[in-house]
Amino acid sequence: MANLYESNLSTRVDFPARARAVASIPSLLRLQAFLRMHAQRQHEPGICDFTLGNPHQMPQEAYVAALRNQLEPRNELWFAYKSNGVEAQQAAAASLQRLLEMPFEPADIHLTTGGFTAIAMALKAVADPGDEVIYSLPPWFLYEPIITEAGLVPVKVLIDTETFDLDLMAIASAITPRTRVVIVNSPNNPTGRIYPPALLVKLAAMLELASERNGRRIYLLSDEAYNRIVYDGVRFHSPAEYYPNTLLAYSYGKTHLAPGQRIGYLALPPTMPDRDALREILSALQVAMGWIYPNALMQYALPALETFSIDVGQLQRKRDRLYEELTGMGYRLHRPEGSFYLFVNSPVPDDEAFTESLAIRDVFVLPGVLFETPGFFRISLTANEEMVERSLPAFAEAIRLAGAG
Ligand SMILES: Cc1ncc(COP(=O)(O)O)c(C=O)c1O
Repeated sequence: MANLYESNLSTRVDFPARARAVASIPSLLRLQAFLRMHAQRQHEPGICDFTLGNPHQMPQEAYVAALRNQLEPRNELWFAYKSNGVEAQQAAAASLQRLLEMPFEPADIHLTTGGFTAIAMALKAVADPGDEVIYSLPPWFLYEPIITEAGLVPVKVLIDTETFDLDLMAIASAITPRTRVVIVNSPNNPTGRIYPPALLVKLAAMLELASERNGRRIYLLSDEAYNRIVYDGVRFHSPAEYYPNTLLAYSYGKTHLAPGQRIGYLALPPTMPDRDALREILSALQVAMGWIYPNALMQYALPALETFSIDVGQLQRKRDRLYEELTGMGYRLHRPEGSFYLFVNSPVPDDEAFTESLAIRDVFVLPGVLFETPGFFRISLTANEEMVERSLPAFAEAIRLAGAG
């Protein structure tokens, strides 16, 4: 299977080095190969698809209405070029103020086509080619392509795989004079962990010290794609509350489970030093990166989109059902506090072999190797309730045959 994951591009000199580097990232090739392998069967009836954070039930009526209500042009400029729509910025800032109890300003909401471009823009705004970006494994698998495409150097450290917390010592040891950004993703994909304030306070102190030592600011990029997907009524805390030099990336794609309708933003907290200069840089990048504003219709819909989310209670019930059942069968896993995912210890060290034994029983999950963290697998709670129920005998049989149940 190994050759599936290799690219012959790295030896081709007739394409630019950076493009070849992006197209040769092993974790991206692995993911693409895995998805290709399962593509044919994925949509067959009877398949329980726990792979990606994609919807498996019809979109909410409120979501459709929010878009439909904005479709009819109200003036001749309705579908004209649209940069940062002021009403959208105001609604997003007001919502962030409520969530984090910080006075975010509308002018600091830089609208983007989802979390992807918010992350890419943040990196380009503060880092020069050759600068290092630290993030923790297991990661969202697309950090590396985004970092590489920006000409930056990914530096990976492992989380504490027992607690699923950030390993602050590992991050501290990975910092060099070239470190410019540390990415933090909470609620986390794939672990479901929400980092507690005490940890974020320590991280902030450590980054402050390291920036002083380096004589150059280290920015924190807070990837908050799941900050509205939080269970048990827990209050979410953002690193932006503790570290002023935080760039906050958000996506509406998770909140409404409609990731194909691209809209998100990069926000600067009111505490950010040199905020005026950064605003100017971000405004220029929104254009220069290829007019990365969300399209007009999505911007008009944003104030309505801020008033609801997908049914988080239903997600929580699926989390509880799977957590209780899998634990009862002998699987080892954390109860996620947020995001869409359960990150489960594979009952056998070879997580690819184990996920294959589930796949032949029509249950599709992602192996930990795709997150550069072997020995685990990821379940997405966006599968529907019927899939959850249908998958349980397969999970039970697979762990029994592995000799671990
Ligand atoms: C942790 C994380 N960050 C960012 C994104 C990007 O979100 P979007 O596709 O809505 O831009 C995702 C999507 O899966 C994600 O899981």
